[in-house]
Amino acid sequence: MSLFPGNALFMAPMVDLSHVAYQELVRSFSGCDLFYSEMLNTRIVPVEKPQTSIYLRWTSTSDLIFQIVGNDPEKMRESAEKLDGYDPFGIDVNMGCWLKKVTCHGWGSGLMKDVPRAHAVISAVRKATKRPLSVKIRIGHALDMAAMCDFASMLEASGVDSIVLHARTVEDGMSRKARWEYIGALKDCLKIPVVGNGDIHTPEDAVTMFRQTGCDGVMVGRQALIQPWIFRDIKAALAGEQAPEAPRLVDVILDLHRLLGVHFPAEVALKRFKTALFWLSQNLAFGHHLTKAVCREKTMDDAGACLEGWFEQGIT
Ligand SMILES: Cc1cc2nc3c(=O)[nH]c(=O)nc-3n(C[C@H](O)[C@H](O)[C@H](O)COP(=O)(O)O)c2cc1C
Repeated sequence: MSLFPGNALFMAPMVDLSHVAYQELVRSFSGCDLFYSEMLNTRIVPVEKPQTSIYLRWTSTSDLIFQIVGNDPEKMRESAEKLDGYDPFGIDVNMGCWLKKVTCHGWGSGLMKDVPRAHAVISAVRKATKRPLSVKIRIGHALDMAAMCDFASMLEASGVDSIVLHARTVEDGMSRKARWEYIGALKDCLKIPVVGNGDIHTPEDAVTMFRQTGCDGVMVGRQALIQPWIFRDIKAALAGEQAPEAPRLVDVILDLHRLLGVHFPAEVALKRFKTALFWLSQNLAFGHHLTKAVCREKTMDDAGACLEGWFEQGIT
């Protein structure tokens, strides 16, 4: 039995954004097969409770992959074991985050520099769960296909079930175009499934990534924040069908506003609404003005009213 559905589509892990409300919004359009949590700090996971933590919230776990970050094998194991208890689809280890505040601890892509520790982390996490275990990596610290394949082969030999490749180097950060040729190269050197990630902006991009690289799945990050309905459109493109009509943006944004209110305390909901609006407003020519106006509001109600007023004026 294969690990994922054919041509599997994933929503990427994104701090402050790939939370339960965005997951629900994306689910409402269908098409996305598997969701990732925000990265979960393994210094904190062992003491967090789902009832109180703003990170351990979900409506369904059967299509959810918890991503953990850290580099202490015991804390990683303990966190994976606890998260495994919530019956997720799988567990993912973050070895791709490039931010200094993460790598300075040796976490995220810091682990791509420390092979023995990366191996120890995976061996420990593997003992904690029988569910699909993935690792999200980058190309590495340099443009070196052989080094990338050696690292990923070590992960495969350590018991990892699939790899997600964000096709940029650590030094690239989020700049430069993703280098999809590395996804194809990784696919050629591994037996386990490879999920490609980086710069999917249209449904056609996803079709091209599948065709060009032979990858088993495609992960979408920023464009899924801008167009939460993109997975539905990718599925249509893969089937050679025309995409359905785009939903009304105001309805999409108001639905996220409602979902944030349902799932988070008011202050957290407001903060996350403002963060999300930065992305959703990119559908509008003058969206930055809308974001600015909503960011001045102090309550969820006022933020919602500001948004409705904006759309009533018919400004796009
Ligand atoms: C706001 C933001 C937060 C992110 N947080 C995470 C994270 O928590 N874990 C992770 O592995 N990657 C994280 N990423 C990287 C994305 O998962 C993804 O690899 C990257 O955005 C490239 O995909 P895209 O071109 O489809 O956006 C983040 C990216 C963004 C834009």
